[in-house]
Amino acid sequence: MNETKSKDTKVFASKIGAILAAAGSAVGLGNVWRFPTETGANGGAAFILIYIFFMLILGVPVMLTELAIGRHGQKDVMTSFEKMSGGRKGWRLMGLIPVVAGLLVLSYYAVVAGWTMYYAYEAAINGFAGKDAGQYAQDFGAFSADPIASVLWMVVILVMTAEIVALGVQRGIERAARIMMPLLFIFIVVLVVCSLTLPGASKGLSFLFMPDFSKVTGGTVLSAMGQAFFSLSVGICCLCTYACYFRKDVNLVQNGFSVAIIDTMVALMSGLIIFPAVYSIPGLAPDAGPSLVFITLPNVFQTAFGSVPAVAYTFSLVFYLLLVMAALTSSISMLEMAAAFFVERFGWKRPVAARSVGAICVVLGTFCALSFGEWQEVTLFGMGFFDLFDFIVAKLMMPVGSFLMCVFVGYVVDERVLRNELTNGGVLRQPLYPVYRFIIRFVAPVLIFMIFANELGMFDFLKK
Ligand code: ALA
Repeated sequence: MNETKSKDTKVFASKIGAILAAAGSAVGLGNVWRFPTETGANGGAAFILIYIFFMLILGVPVMLTELAIGRHGQKDVMTSFEKMSGGRKGWRLMGLIPVVAGLLVLSYYAVVAGWTMYYAYEAAINGFAGKDAGQYAQDFGAFSADPIASVLWMVVILVMTAEIVALGVQRGIERAARIMMPLLFIFIVVLVVCSLTLPGASKGLSFLFMPDFSKVTGGTVLSAMGQAFFSLSVGICCLCTYACYFRKDVNLVQNGFSVAIIDTMVALMSGLIIFPAVYSIPGLAPDAGPSLVFITLPNVFQTAFGSVPAVAYTFSLVFYLLLVMAALTSSISMLEMAAAFFVERFGWKRPVAARSVGAICVVLGTFCALSFGEWQEVTLFGMGFFDLFDFIVAKLMMPVGSFLMCVFVGYVVDERVLRNELTNGGVLRQPLYPVYRFIIRFVAPVLIFMIFANELGMFDFLKK
């Protein structure tokens, strides 16, 4: 009886639960924070078109690969690589890359997630009202440099994440996704509708949807590729871990496309919230960099809706809550990956594994949080801890992990095993399978190598 029960919780109970959890893993700060920032910095619509192209050609195929590896393994990432290789133990070592990447990414992701939570709190107590433009920058600088506040809010996020994971696959992860993802969609739609009523709406829309290819440089193309990559968390095996909990009748291809479509829609709608609002304030440009969300937007929301303070209040609160939920659904998948590793490989109990991973991330995350204040001067390889972690994960581990995954599935894995997984044992017709296989063997490895080279600065001469 107990056996049945514990097995039952190691699988997503429903197909919709599986899609929502996977979409929650992909949809995160990358959509609501990084996407608008990158779009702003890279000139708008042309960047978006190139980004969508790379989602299709690179993001979706590599994501399908992760889903196939995970569902075949049914346990954790290390076991999955071993099983997919036909039982050759050496390949399990490939699973170590995402586990380490998961710990590192969560450690710095939780810092920014903590900022979003603090901003939600500030919005809730009406802390943005009645300030002038300069004060928002000052306030953000003071908050992010405050060792106690920034660490505290990061710990809040990590405790919430660990406790949800500790509850289990169905009662924790799936339930959280089933509650937060629909709320997230409702919040987004409400905010888009409000933002489109602002006087800057048409300017914001043309920025988003009227491509000006004269602004495209080699750097734009490569940034769009990198964004597609980050947005789906390709390469760090969050989706691979969730796929371990997919039932055998889940259509992986359908699931993968649904996640990609949801992820892209959320990114575009975040743009529809932010750009009309930014353009409604004369003199403001959308290319304010990563501070867009924490310095420019609180000011924009107050100014744009200032004539009706209740609307400014509600808009700000809902926007930052949206960010918190997006961050949480992603951080859950990052923590789950490492927790599942300890549960499956070392036999730890789930709550112990979840809290231990959370505790490791608190320690590592503290280094990252303090790099904005107390430890600003402490650098390694010329970078503070936050930037260093981001560099190691996003610029080294993600591309290297994805590249190896393509080579593994394209050249090492028995092709019948892969096809079997993607067609549910031949039950589903997957007419695009040959295209997928071609991409994964010949196109994706080259593109990923280009991202990698770009991140290491090899294409800097292309950027203006
Ligand atoms: N894919 C996750 C995000 O977009 C990491 O935030």
